[in-house]
Amino acid sequence: MGSTKHEKADIVLDTILHRRSIRRFDSRQIDETDLHKILQAGVYAPSAGGRQSAVFAVCQDREVNVRLGKIKRAISNPHMATAGNYISKDQPSIADDPKITDAFYSAPTVIYLFAPKDFLFSAEDCAAAAENMMLAADSIGVGSCYIGQGWTAFADPYGQEILKKWEIRTDYYGVAQLLLGYPREGDRHPEAKPRKAGRVIRV
Ligand SMILES: Cc1cc2nc3c(=O)[nH]c(=O)nc-3n(C[C@H](O)[C@H](O)[C@H](O)COP(=O)(O)O)c2cc1C
Repeated sequence: MGSTKHEKADIVLDTILHRRSIRRFDSRQIDETDLHKILQAGVYAPSAGGRQSAVFAVCQDREVNVRLGKIKRAISNPHMATAGNYISKDQPSIADDPKITDAFYSAPTVIYLFAPKDFLFSAEDCAAAAENMMLAADSIGVGSCYIGQGWTAFADPYGQEILKKWEIRTDYYGVAQLLLGYPREGDRHPEAKPRKAGRVIRV
């Protein structure tokens, strides 16, 4: 028996509603099969003009990820969450907890998204790919978190060295990072904040 179109839509919607940013990761590395599925979702994302120019550098070297995460943390603005406000109580971000020194939260896998410097849609291409990957990740029990302003991780000599080592084209820049890892055992899955009213305008 095939499922009806609404049953299929509900499966997709359940994943969309369930996905939350995860920043507290189990130290165990993610399975290759899980990673493969997540990457497949990324490379099949829409891209402006169908150009498929974004590239996905998958790094599972913890030392490198922590070092880049610390560089990024050191130059990040820690004042995004204001008094009485918070980004996530369950999964605190660097804006919630000044004691967090790694902007990648010790994620065992970090996907560094690069795209052409001189292309109007580089950010959108990477964001679309990242969202596809976050949904695929959630559907198989892998936690994820999108990290914006990706270029800041490469803003010092070590970052520059890594770009050379990974052979990232010099006409490309770091748009964003996607963190992946299993959520810590025993952590409750965060709830979505209430949705703000009035954002959908029927015209
Ligand atoms: C463009 C963009 C940039 C983001 N950058 C960061 C970041 O640098 N650090 C971080 O911890 N979370 C980052 N996030 C995750 C958001 O904080 C998160 O999506 C938001 O608080 C809503 O929570 P949810 O993803 O659990 O629904 C970013 C999300 C987006 C869309």
